[in-house]
Amino acid sequence: MTEIPSLRRFLTVGYNKKQIDSDLVFLLEDVASACRVIANHIRNGAFEGKLGATDDTNVQGETQKELDVIANEEFVRICAHSPRLAALVSEEVDEVIWSKDEVEAGDYMLYFDPLDGSSNLDVNLSVGSIFAIMQVPEGSAGQASRDVLRKGLDQVCAGYAMYGPSTMLVLTTGQSVDGFTCQHGTGDFRLTHPAMTIPEETAEFAINASRYGFWDAPVQRYFDECIAGKDGPRGKAFNMRWTASMVADVHRILTRGGVFLYPADAANREAGGKLRLMYEANPMAMLVENAGGAASTGFERILDLKPTGHHQRVPVILGSKAEVERLIGYHQTAAAPA
Ligand code: AHG
Ligand code: MN
Ligand code: MN
Repeated sequence: MTEIPSLRRFLTVGYNKKQIDSDLVFLLEDVASACRVIANHIRNGAFEGKLGATDDTNVQGETQKELDVIANEEFVRICAHSPRLAALVSEEVDEVIWSKDEVEAGDYMLYFDPLDGSSNLDVNLSVGSIFAIMQVPEGSAGQASRDVLRKGLDQVCAGYAMYGPSTMLVLTTGQSVDGFTCQHGTGDFRLTHPAMTIPEETAEFAINASRYGFWDAPVQRYFDECIAGKDGPRGKAFNMRWTASMVADVHRILTRGGVFLYPADAANREAGGKLRLMYEANPMAMLVENAGGAASTGFERILDLKPTGHHQRVPVILGSKAEVERLIGYHQTAAAPA
């Protein structure tokens, strides 16, 4: 029987076709440990009375669940001492956390959403963690907040953990997108889903349709055409899914294709959109592009955006390339002068 490689073997023995810096391997192993520990907290949350909300709100004004706070603490506790980690940027923490005094160019910066889809906790549905890794740029003055504002194309690694029926870790270090399942008993992450790819065409979309009345015309047009089915302009029946956890929706798209939308709309435009650029949109855009898909705001490639703040929000359209390109086309047509 062929041995299924562990995460460590995958990262160190050239499965990835590219030599990965050993300090990045340490950091990825720390991220994997944090995710393993968070999976246990989630599994035991009901026994420990940890599924509910706290009295606090995060910097985004959202009520924090107890597990949002715990997952954040575990990421910081486990990853902050990784040998070359300089900074952590968390959805749940207002300021950048600097983990060492002497910051050098090339040191790593870890961006993370410790618990994604936390409204699913009460109802025992899938949640996840999302992360991205970048490096401190050349010429950094050390502990400079602007250094964390790098664009998505500068990510050296992106990934997520999904706490579903099984716990999975899916990541890319710039080439393939590979999925690892946490083996019950040993706790090892092992390569069960090598080289994940997104089919170019799809007949499945994911959007929170309760926001229809807020959407711009291009998104309404896309949705109307999809639900018109075989007799509509698309000439085929579409399926719709929405899990309210970006990790679970993106995981489905990486597995069987589809398109995910959290667009700008009349209710979220002032905030810039709903999802956060640096620890939700950017890592998912890198994963989706490396799996053969595309990721856009409707007008711009997400990975090209130059961030203005580390909690910045953006509109997100990502998944199968042909659908994302169609949506970009609808946005351009609507924006063109009559
Ligand atoms: P988080 O739990 O980290 O705040 O993220 C939730 C996000 C994302 O995972 C999901 O796609 C979306 O918010 C759900 O939004 P709705 O509640 O509007 O469906
Ligand atoms: Mn999230
Ligand atoms: Mn979150």
